[in-house]
Amino acid sequence: MRFGYFDNVRKEYVITRPDTPREWTNYLGSLEYGAIITNNAQGYSFVKSGASGRILRGRFNVPPTTAPGRYIYLKDMENGDYWSSSWLPVKKDLSKYESICRHGILYTIIASKYDGIETETLYYVPLNELYEVWAIKVRNNSGRKRKISLFSYAEFTNEPNETQDLVNMQYTLFISRTYYKDNLIIQTINENYSEIGKVIPQEEGISGRRFNRFFGVIGEKVVSYDGDRDKFIGSYRDYSNPIAVERGMCGNSLNYGKNSCAGTQVILDLEPGEEKEVIYVLGQGAEATGRRVMAKYEEKGRVEKEWNELKNYWQSKLEGFKVKTPDENFDTMVNIWNAYQCFITFFWSRAASMIYVGQRDGYGYRDTVQDIQGIIHLEPQEAKKRLRLMLAGQTSKGVALPLVFFDYEIKPNQGLSLDNPYYVKRTGYTEYRCDDHLWLYITIRQYIKETGDLAFLDEILPYSDYGEDTVYEHLRKGILFSLSKLGKHGLSFGLDADWNDTLRLGEEGETVFASMQLYLALKIFAEFAGRKGKKEDVEWAEKEAKKLDENIQKYAWEEDRFVRGFIGDEVIGSKKNTEASFWLNPQVWAVLSGVATEEQAKISMDNVEKILNTDYGAMIMYPPVRTWGFPVFRMILFNPGMKENAGIFCHPQGWLIKAETILGNGDRAFKYYQEVNPANMNDKAEIREAEPYVHCQFVEGKDSPYHGRAHVHWLTGTASSMMVAAVEGILGIKPDYDGIVIDPCVPSHWKEFYIEKVFRGKKLRIKVENPNGVQKGVKTINLNGKEIRSNFILEKDLKDDNEIIVIMG
Ligand code: GLC
Repeated sequence: MRFGYFDNVRKEYVITRPDTPREWTNYLGSLEYGAIITNNAQGYSFVKSGASGRILRGRFNVPPTTAPGRYIYLKDMENGDYWSSSWLPVKKDLSKYESICRHGILYTIIASKYDGIETETLYYVPLNELYEVWAIKVRNNSGRKRKISLFSYAEFTNEPNETQDLVNMQYTLFISRTYYKDNLIIQTINENYSEIGKVIPQEEGISGRRFNRFFGVIGEKVVSYDGDRDKFIGSYRDYSNPIAVERGMCGNSLNYGKNSCAGTQVILDLEPGEEKEVIYVLGQGAEATGRRVMAKYEEKGRVEKEWNELKNYWQSKLEGFKVKTPDENFDTMVNIWNAYQCFITFFWSRAASMIYVGQRDGYGYRDTVQDIQGIIHLEPQEAKKRLRLMLAGQTSKGVALPLVFFDYEIKPNQGLSLDNPYYVKRTGYTEYRCDDHLWLYITIRQYIKETGDLAFLDEILPYSDYGEDTVYEHLRKGILFSLSKLGKHGLSFGLDADWNDTLRLGEEGETVFASMQLYLALKIFAEFAGRKGKKEDVEWAEKEAKKLDENIQKYAWEEDRFVRGFIGDEVIGSKKNTEASFWLNPQVWAVLSGVATEEQAKISMDNVEKILNTDYGAMIMYPPVRTWGFPVFRMILFNPGMKENAGIFCHPQGWLIKAETILGNGDRAFKYYQEVNPANMNDKAEIREAEPYVHCQFVEGKDSPYHGRAHVHWLTGTASSMMVAAVEGILGIKPDYDGIVIDPCVPSHWKEFYIEKVFRGKKLRIKVENPNGVQKGVKTINLNGKEIRSNFILEKDLKDDNEIIVIMG
C-alpha cells in the first residue's frame, strides 16, 4: 500500500493520503529554533533545546487525534460546516476531503480541497530567525461568493521545561497568562519577574525565568480571539470540534491560571476564483518583537522570497554530491533524503523527534562522532566545528564524556568528568563506555582526507576536566585509556557499553567488537604519526596493534565466526551457545578493521548472509535471548526481534554494506542496500509503517510477528552509516591525503553511472563505465583527456572543473 511518492525535481516527498500508518514527519528550523511537523500539521517547537526551550506543546505517544498541532480551521459562515486545512484535527470524510502534504527540506506544505475551497499552507522557519511562519492561501473555486472564517490554534507550553509543563500542574498552570492587542496574542511566563533571562533559583528542572511568546496574524483583521485553551476548545470537547469554531466565534478569553493558546478568527469574503493569504507568525519574544516580525510580512511576496532563500540555501548544500545510477531509489536517498537526514541527525543528535521526546539535553558522544561522518563530504567546516566540540568533551584520561551538553563551551579546566557530581546528576551517567572515544579516529581521518587539513592534528583543544593538548595528543590519550582497560584475553573491557547499549560487560567482560575498533584506531594513529614523521609513535602503535590482532586471532576466531566477547571465561557468540550464538558486528568489523584474513572474511560473511539476513536486512544477532545472559545482556528486556534482541538494527547495515564492498562483493552489497532502503518500501507502507523517506533505528526481526516494521525514525546512526556505505563503499569515492581514490564496488548489472562531487573546492564530473559487468576493479581513469593507469587521482593534477571517465574491468 502506498501513501505518497517522491518528487525529486522539487526535492519533496508528497503524501497523497493523510491517513498514513503513523505520523509521517518533517523538520523545520535550525539549531536556534527547531520544530517538528507531521503530515497532519502536528508536532512541536522549541528554542535551542527541546528539553528546556519548549514553545509549542507536543503530547507524546497518544493517538494522533488527541494531539495538539499547528491547526487552522475553516468554517463556512453561511452553512455552518467546518473543516481544517490539514486533515486532522477535524478529520473530514476522505471521499469528500483531499489532502496533499509536501515535505521538503526544512519546510512543509499542506494543501486541502473541500467543498469548493482550496487551501495551501506553507510552514517554515525563515533562515537565521527565531520564529515560525504558517502562511495559508485560501482560494474559492466554488463558483459562488463565500464567507469563510479561519481559526488558528497553537497550544503553548506553560513552562519551557518540557517535563514540568506536562507534569507539574500545581506550579506551571499558575505562571503563564495571555494578552491580546491588534492581531497579536502575547503569552507571558513568570511575568512579575522583570529581569528577562535571569534565573530565580527554583526547584529542579523549573526554568524560573521570565519568557514571552507571540502569535501574530497578518493579512486580515482578527475579529475574535482566545488565549485560554479551554475557552477555545470548550468543556468536554476536543481538537476536532472546538466550541469557538462550532459557534463561529472565539470567546475573547485570556488565560489566567490555566493553559495558554493562540486561537484567532479572521473572516474572508471570497469572490468566485478569488484567493487570499493570511500569515501567522509564532515565536519567542514580547510585544515589540512580535510587532517587528509582523511588520516584515506587510511586504508583499515576503513569504515567497524567504521560502526561496531557505530552499536555495539547503538545496545547494546537497549539490556537493550527486549521483545518477541505474537505480532511482538509490539516487533519491543519496542525493536528497539520506543527505537531509544526515543533517537533521547532525543537528539534533537523539534529542527531538516524535519518538525522542526532546528531553535529552546534549550530544551523545558516540552517536555524534558518527553522525559527523554523514555530512563531512557536504559540509566539512561544520564537521570540523563539531569535532572540536567533541574532542573538548574528552577527559584528560582519554575516555569521553558519555554526553556533551548542547550548551557546552570549548574552554579549559571546566572540571567535567564522571568524578564531578554535577555532571553525574545532570546526565545520570555514572560509568564510561569503552567505545565512545574510539569513534574519533575514523571520523577525524575521514575529515582530514576530505579536506587535506592535516594541520587539524596540531590544533590545541582542552579536555573536559583539566588541561589541553593537540588533537594528535588527544588521540594518543584515547588509545592509552583503551590499552589500560584490557582483560585477561588481552581484549578491551566492555565497561558500561561498547557500541551496543545493552551489553554491560563492565571490567570483567571483554568485547571483540571494541577490540577491533581499537585495532583500527591504532592503525589510524600510526598513519597520522607516519604523516607527521613521528617514527617512534608509528612503531609503538604498530606494535600494540599487532598484539591486539594476535589476541583477537587467538581468542575470538571460532571456526566459522568471530565471537562477540567474553563474560569472564564464558564466550558470547559461540557456536555452542543456544541463544545469541552469531553476531553481526564482529564479522563486519573484522573486515572493516582489517583484522580478518581473506578466508575468515569469506566464511564469516557468508554466514552473515545465511544466519542473519532477511528480506528487510540482517539481524544484529541470532537467535534472540530469552533466558541467558542477564545482567550483562540487557537486550533480554526486549521482545524477540526488537532492537538489540535480534532486531534488524539498521545502523550496522551500513557497516555491513561497506564491508562487502571492501571484499569486492558488489552484488551482495547492493542487495543489502536494497533490503534496507526505505524508498524501496514505498509501496509497502502497511508493513514498514514508518516514513519511506527516512531510515529508522531498527526494523523488527524474523522472530517478531511484525517482521519488517520499522521504528525510531530520523535520529539514528543509520543515516550516516548508510551514507558512508553508499558514497565510499558502493560508489567508491574515497578522498585520500594527497588526492582521491575512485574505486566503485557495484552490482554487476550497473553498466554506467555518473557522480558529481566537489572535492576541496574543485568540481569532479565522473562517468563510470562498466563494459564487462564486473563488481569491482578500475582499469583506467581518464582525467581531462589524460589516461591514468590506477584508481588514484592526485589533487595537484585537478583543475577547477574536471571531466573524469572511469573504466571498470
Ligand atoms: C542506539 C544508541 C546508540 C547505540 C545503539 C546500539 O541507537 O543511540 O548509541 O550505539 O542504540 O545499542
